[in-house]
Amino acid sequence: MENKELRTAVIGVGSLGRHHARNHAELVREGKTEFVGVCDVNEETARKIAAENSCDYFTDWRELLDKVDAVSIVTPTETHSEIACAFLEKGVHVLVEKPIARTLAEADLMTRAAEKSGAKLMVGHLERYNPAMVALRPHVTKPLYFEIHRVSPFPNRALDVDVVLDVMIHDLDAINWLVDSKVSEIRAVGIPVISDKVDAANARIEFENGAVANITASRIGTEKIRKTRFYQTNSYVVLDYATKFASVTSLAPNAIHPLLGISINRLEINDVEPLRAEIEAFVNCILKDETPPITAEDGRRALDLALGVLDKIEKHRSLLKV
Ligand SMILES: NC(=O)c1ccc[n+]([C@@H]2O[C@H](COP(=O)([O-])OP(=O)(O)OC[C@H]3O[C@@H](n4cnc5c(N)ncnc54)[C@H](O)[C@@H]3O)[C@@H](O)[C@H]2O)c1
Repeated sequence: MENKELRTAVIGVGSLGRHHARNHAELVREGKTEFVGVCDVNEETARKIAAENSCDYFTDWRELLDKVDAVSIVTPTETHSEIACAFLEKGVHVLVEKPIARTLAEADLMTRAAEKSGAKLMVGHLERYNPAMVALRPHVTKPLYFEIHRVSPFPNRALDVDVVLDVMIHDLDAINWLVDSKVSEIRAVGIPVISDKVDAANARIEFENGAVANITASRIGTEKIRKTRFYQTNSYVVLDYATKFASVTSLAPNAIHPLLGISINRLEINDVEPLRAEIEAFVNCILKDETPPITAEDGRRALDLALGVLDKIEKHRSLLKV
């Protein structure tokens, strides 16, 4: 496909979608695509973001069905499946934000629509494009035990979703990706503190290959923490998504004494905006007719695990009576 043939649009230009729009507009300046427009049910928002990016605006995504070849869908999660299926059925390639959908059944509808038309369906698990993760990925061998903390001050967005589907899902996708084994057991606790949804949660996830992940996610912290530490054979890994830091500490082969042989390898970071890298990967998989780097199956696995964690939280809450 000639680059210029790829007409793109962004559906939903709220707090994250406006950054999708900016990045799509930048790709146009590089001659890669044609950015047709943005769509938002809030007309004022749509008009403002369109003006910032020199494109048309729409308030009903259906108007774009015959005008584009690829879309970013950045609307609230409960709308993902309906909007994505309509575009996929038309053969339009879709990059849908995480979580892929609200339910596994909705995710399956999206997968089937993509398979039927041959359109690409990619899921926006953005942390895979964090420069620290990009630098670290080639050093990951066989993670055995994770300690993960993702804490934020209380947001004024996404309060219709619990902390598991909103933020823990980033780490659930990461462990699925890095461990690459089936989940064998989930234990979890979570409580609402400020909203009526779960605001803080902890999950212990075991995989069939023996790996264990202990994950804490909270949106009622006093500081922003995005830290993952894990142990794999002969090395200890630190990954900080917030400061874009990654290091691998290992024992030099043939060291006479462990303390003398320890080396800390602070990985070199290529500081590309993660969303830019994600959108470019989406466009490239279309132009090269390749499998999307984050598939619908990846998105479904992360959702399945998140729903499993929520189920355990609900069971535990009934014991706590909160
Ligand atoms: N990957 C990440 O790191 C990340 C971060 C934040 C949000 N998200 C995901 O992005 C999505 C949007 O989140 P947000 O924080 O930007 O929400 P938001 O509420 O700030 O923005 C959503 C926008 O979609 C618009 N909208 C709602 N229904 C629509 C429809 N039917 N057609 C067109 N526009 C519609 C709203 O008017 C709003 O402007 C969610 O799925 C969320 O989970 C992902």
